[in-house]
Amino acid sequence: MKTIAEYRADLESAVKELSWPEGMLDSLYQPVAYALSAGGKRIRPVLTMMAADAFGGAAGKAVRPALGIETFHNFTLLHDDVMDNSDMRRGRPTVHRKYGSNAAILSGDTMLTLATQWVCEVEPDRLRSVLDAFNDMAIKIYEGQALDMAFETAETVSLADYLEMISCKTGALLGAAATIGAIIGGASAEDAARLYDYGMAVGLAFQIQDDWLDTFGDSATFGKPIGGDINNSKKTYLYLHALESSPAMEEALRAAMAMAPGESKVKTVTRLYEKLGVKEGCSKAVAHYSSQAMAAVKATSLSDEAKDAFRHLAEKLVGRKK
Ligand code: IPE
Ligand code: IPE
Ligand code: MG
Ligand code: MG
Ligand code: MG
Repeated sequence: MKTIAEYRADLESAVKELSWPEGMLDSLYQPVAYALSAGGKRIRPVLTMMAADAFGGAAGKAVRPALGIETFHNFTLLHDDVMDNSDMRRGRPTVHRKYGSNAAILSGDTMLTLATQWVCEVEPDRLRSVLDAFNDMAIKIYEGQALDMAFETAETVSLADYLEMISCKTGALLGAAATIGAIIGGASAEDAARLYDYGMAVGLAFQIQDDWLDTFGDSATFGKPIGGDINNSKKTYLYLHALESSPAMEEALRAAMAMAPGESKVKTVTRLYEKLGVKEGCSKAVAHYSSQAMAAVKATSLSDEAKDAFRHLAEKLVGRKK
C-alpha cells in the first residue's frame, strides 16, 4: 500500500496529463481546467485508489476511474456554489463568480459526462457494477442537494431528516468512491458493501465537520468564507443539534435564523451556538460516525495493514481544519 500523499500525487499526475481544446471553446473548457487544477484534498479519488490497492494491488488500474470520481465531485461543486451563492472555494473565486453562472452550468455538465466516461475505464467484466454504483450515487446526490435546498425554508426539519439529507449529498459519493475502488480491486460483493458502509460513515462525519468549519473554522485555512451556512439558513448539524438539545432556546434560535443575511446574523447565531454547547455535540457525532466507519472496515477480509490505512484516513479527516 502507498501513503495518502502518494495516492494524491498519482491523481495530480493524471490531472496534469489532461489537455483541453483551445480557441473558441475556451469558455467551456477553461472553467473545467480551473476547477480541476485548484487542488482540494482529493480524498474521494484517494479512497478509490486505496480500495483498489487494498483488495487487488490494483491502484494503477484505478487512477482513471478515480480521476472520474474527482471530476464528478468538482462538477457537483460548480453547481453547488451557484445554488449556495458561494463566492470562494479553495481560497479562490468560485467558477460562477469568475466565469459566470452559464459557465458553471455548462462546464459542470461537461465534467459530469467526462467523469462518467473516466469512471467507465475499467475491465469489461466490472463495468456493469461500477456504472450501477456510480449512477446510483449520482441520483442520491441530486436528491440530497434538493433536500438541502428545500430544508432552507422548511419549518420542521429533524436531525433524522438531516442525516438522510447528508447521507445523500455527501455520504453517497464517499461510499461510491470506496466501493468502486473495491470492485476494481476484485473484492467480493460482501467486502465491496462493507467498504461502501465505510465511505458512507466517513462521509457523514466529514459533512458534520464541514458544517462545523463553516461557522467555527478559519476562513484562510478552510478556503471558504465563514458564515455561509448561517446566511443561507441551512439546516446544519449545529442548528438542529442546538434546537433538539435546548428546547427552551427554540424561539431565540428561530428568531436569530430568521434575521436578514449579514454580519449581525452570523454573530448572533454563532453566539447562540457557543452558548448551547454545539461544539461538544458536533465532536461527539463526528467521533460516532468515524467509529462506525472503523467497524465497517474491521468486518472486511482485508489484511491488518490495509485496515490500518483506512483507519488512518478516517482519523485524518476527523481532525481536519480544511
Ligand atoms: C466539499 O468537499 C463538499 C462537501 C462535501 C463538504 P471537500 O471538502 O472534499 O472539498 P475539496 O475537494 O477538498 O475542496
Ligand atoms: C456539499 O455541501 C454537498 C455537495 C456539494 C454535493 P456544502 O454546500 O456544505 O459544500 P460546501 O461547504 O459548499 O463545500
Ligand atoms: Mg450546498
Ligand atoms: Mg455549498
Ligand atoms: Mg459546507
